[in-house]
Amino acid sequence: MNAADLSSQAPLLQVRAVSKRYEARAVLERVTFGIRRGEIVSLVGPSGCGKSTLLRVLAGLDRDFEGEILLDGLAQHGPSPRLGVIFQEPRLLPWLSVADNIAFSAGPRRGAAPRVGQLLDEVGLAGTGAALPKQLSGGMAQRVALARGLFSQPDLLLLDEPFSAVDAMTRMRLQDLLLSLTRAHGTAALIVTHDLDEALYLSDRVLLLNTAGQRGARLVRDIDVAAAHPRDRRDTALAGVRNELIDGMGETRNAYA
Ligand SMILES: Nc1ncnc2c1ncn2[C@@H]1O[C@H](COP(=O)(O)OP(=O)(O)O)[C@@H](O)[C@H]1O
Ligand SMILES: [Mg+2]
Repeated sequence: MNAADLSSQAPLLQVRAVSKRYEARAVLERVTFGIRRGEIVSLVGPSGCGKSTLLRVLAGLDRDFEGEILLDGLAQHGPSPRLGVIFQEPRLLPWLSVADNIAFSAGPRRGAAPRVGQLLDEVGLAGTGAALPKQLSGGMAQRVALARGLFSQPDLLLLDEPFSAVDAMTRMRLQDLLLSLTRAHGTAALIVTHDLDEALYLSDRVLLLNTAGQRGARLVRDIDVAAAHPRDRRDTALAGVRNELIDGMGETRNAYA
């Protein structure tokens, strides 16, 4: 088997024994998992257990940790264009047009790039490239953030509670948009969410992070969600996974060492 074949079989992202402290306090303790090419994975867990901290570490935005993050087998030491990051707030630059915001990673005024028009089309915002962020609704602004996250043609999107700030109907539309975008581009995604139903609707796999007392959080569940897409949000087959996650949320770990 040649090197190209091997790399196509290795996980896209490997997170190896990541431990993270804030001062004396352990937040993450030996977190290890992989994400395959094109895989959609959700990361759930109680508020404050370290989900955003883990996402920042994976995104290369926080380098003060122990462990290794490998992308296609190569250790990462900072942010990479192969990773697109999307936060709960769109974080658009208010003085730049929608198009310039989308292309910002290429430079401050690159909104005329053909890829921008194509992405605007894909996120359902054709014709709004010249608008300023203040003219957009929250849902539209988050569509722009998705387009910006995809601009560099990343292999993996890292999303931190991306739809938590919008109303329920908009949220469902954005979930469907995320699924169609990741499928169209073959992009993998790691989605932090506190919403179990969102995790079950979107993901191929759900990781549950949980903490115990003074110890850092660990992954306490790694569950495949086998149901085919498009999924029915009321599918009773998903309820079994939901119950398993609820059990895992409630457990206090005391014997994992
Ligand atoms: N920059 C920081 N300095 C110190 N403590 C922090 C910092 N950021 C987060 N924390 C703490 O680390 C823990 C995990 O936070 P976070 O990763 O934001 O959790 P989650 O996203 O799961 O709600 C929390 O107790 C939080 O207060
Ligand atoms: Mg968070």
